Amino acid sequence: MSRIFSGVQPTGDLHLGNYLGAIRNFVGLQDDHECIYCVVDMHAITVWQDPARLGPHTREVASAFLASGIDPKTSIIFNQSRVSAHAELAWVFNCVARVGWLSRMTQFKEKAGKHRENASVGLYVYPNLMAADILAYKATHVPVGEDQKQHLELTRDIAIKFNNDFDTECFPVVEPLIFGEATRVMSLRDGTKKMSKSDPSEYSRINLTDGADDIANKIRKAKTDPGELPGLESLGEDGQRVSKDAVAERPEAFNLLSIYAALSAQTMPATLEQFAGQQFSAFKGELVDLSVDKLGPIGSEMQRLMADPGHVDGILADGGERAAALAEPVIREVHEIVGFLK
Ligand code: AMP
Ligand code: TRP
Repeated sequence: MSRIFSGVQPTGDLHLGNYLGAIRNFVGLQDDHECIYCVVDMHAITVWQDPARLGPHTREVASAFLASGIDPKTSIIFNQSRVSAHAELAWVFNCVARVGWLSRMTQFKEKAGKHRENASVGLYVYPNLMAADILAYKATHVPVGEDQKQHLELTRDIAIKFNNDFDTECFPVVEPLIFGEATRVMSLRDGTKKMSKSDPSEYSRINLTDGADDIANKIRKAKTDPGELPGLESLGEDGQRVSKDAVAERPEAFNLLSIYAALSAQTMPATLEQFAGQQFSAFKGELVDLSVDKLGPIGSEMQRLMADPGHVDGILADGGERAAALAEPVIREVHEIVGFLK
């Protein structure tokens, strides 16, 4: 049985992109895999986090996991800083990964912006910690949104280099699991920008804790274009996915359609067929109903769980113990391979 690992940062404002690109996919994997889902608080502090809010934000992500249907008995849910193996292995990987590899990471370039000299060193070596998260458990499959693909390639490079350098088969070469109809959900205000926690406009994203009125307002105000909704002619050669050219021409329309497809669990071709030639106003009405129907119960369950911090903290503590027990032999093995004395 393959082992699954994934992480979500507790940086506040979990949104529809986090849900459709990642969290929702975590749920289905539990049935036939051993799953470890981590709230990566150590990744979060690579950019400034208010210490008073980090705890509540950590519980928010844990609550989203639980409210979406992750079972804390079969899967492991915990926050990263509880298990020292992550930081320990990250140090070894800091010595395996090359500066040139990290300099190519687009997320670092985006987040550091023009003031690269001023970015934290943690932000630079962020992908090494991510590799450590996964490989501390020798996880083989990692469900993520599309924006994490490059980081997972780096994880593969680190595993391969470690195995080569030390002439071992210690680490597996991980496979990304990027699936569903909405692997990259775009901003509701600008279909060329990723939906993101850091966008200053609340109208750019649907937060998982939004109530029905907020969801409806945000969808009604979402940017569209003057045309009618596109149909099957916009599919690419494979007949399953919308062609890149079509998306480039009407990014907002295809973003909303892919959100509809993902939430309704139907394929993109079926969704295109359903709405072809319709006006945006009618389609948006349907999207509001579907979104409220699917996201409303998750949002209210999250609110209920966040009001009971003791319960959530108990789950994180239990998960942390179970995770630490799994990572411990891997760290021991790594120490031996590297040549550290006991
Ligand atoms: P983060 O909030 O950056 O920790 O992201 C947590 C997970 O959500 C990762 O697997 C991301 O790839 C995924 N994710 C974040 N934003 C989006 C988005 N706009 N569309 C799809 N997936 C996303
Ligand atoms: N970097 C991921 C993100 O921003 C979060 C993350 C940290 C992660 N460690 C991980 C995802 C390990 C998958 C596996 O979305």
